[in-house]
Amino acid sequence: MYSRIAGTGKYLPERILTNAELEGMVDTTDEWIRTRTGIERRHIAAEGEYTSDLALHASRQAIEDAQLTPADIDLIVVGTTTPDLVFPNVACLVQQKLGVPPVPAFSLEAACSGFVYALGVADQFVRGGQAKRALVIGAETMSRIVDWSDRETCVLFGDGAGAVVLEATDEPGVIYSNLGADGNQADLLYAASGVSRKASQTDGFGMLRMKGNEVFRFAVKTLERMVDEVIAENGLEKGEIDWLVPHQANIRIIQATAKRLGMSMDRVILTVQDHGNTSAASVPMALDSAIRDGRIKRGDLLLLEAFGGGFTWGASLIRY
Ligand code: ACO
Repeated sequence: MYSRIAGTGKYLPERILTNAELEGMVDTTDEWIRTRTGIERRHIAAEGEYTSDLALHASRQAIEDAQLTPADIDLIVVGTTTPDLVFPNVACLVQQKLGVPPVPAFSLEAACSGFVYALGVADQFVRGGQAKRALVIGAETMSRIVDWSDRETCVLFGDGAGAVVLEATDEPGVIYSNLGADGNQADLLYAASGVSRKASQTDGFGMLRMKGNEVFRFAVKTLERMVDEVIAENGLEKGEIDWLVPHQANIRIIQATAKRLGMSMDRVILTVQDHGNTSAASVPMALDSAIRDGRIKRGDLLLLEAFGGGFTWGASLIRY
């Protein structure tokens, strides 16, 4: 038993925040943001619009694309670090809004790797025969934890959601998942608040903090090591992967990973310019974009990968 991608969807909030607008908010320039990150704009959730609302739009699209109805879904897994509430978890909120029957529904936190983790977990449920049609979502409202006075981070992040429906099949599908984490580096990237441990106001309550340069170096090294493992453990030749669908944090990190894989940038799905770093939402949104515009076709071999706070990282090798 394997799982395969039966449908995809995405949603970006209406409001667009451009680099030019950010020039009026902090000491930055469009030129700095574009050359250092590749980002041109990001979308920001409206007041009263929450992570589960973004997830709902993306999920409806994915279910429709799979030619199913919410009643067919028998598992919901959401990767998010910006849940609406402490509980109920975002998957339960989506379940209620979609009208999915009383099936298992839970969220997991792995920052930007959240979707790749969620996909790996849902794949195990399908392989184990515990689910036949799983809704897997990456959804974030990063704008709610960004310190809008910190130029080093506020230019990077945005809001969005992406979703896929995984369906049980006798041919792969999801071929292989590689997940990892290193909790020793927590001080390089974190959000300074929680329920159990409240942060002091002076550290910026709830705000995302990042030592960008050190995160950058760790991300590049880790992703290079991980893609080497994917190639070796699956007996692949470097040219065999048709499409790289990376986490959209920074174009320079993506270029380094593509180079390691011996892939030219025209085989890499790049959406970072349109929405910045949307954390767990970025991989499923990039996947959906490239399927809908016809670049990714049935039968193509895809490598999805992500790196984020924790640190966490993950890759998924998929025959679409
Ligand atoms: N506008 C103008 N100048 C800026 C800005 C800005 N928005 N931000 C920083 N600078 C300045 C710095 O102060 C520094 O100035 P100095 O040289 O006078 O000290 C200079 O630009 C260079 O700063 P660096 O941090 O060295 O810039 P770098 O080239 O590393 O780019 C960036 C910064 C874009 C943050 C990069 O390090 C990066 O992408 N890091 C990784 C991010 C990431 O992948 N995070 C993981 C996922 S996030 C998650 O999991 C939630």
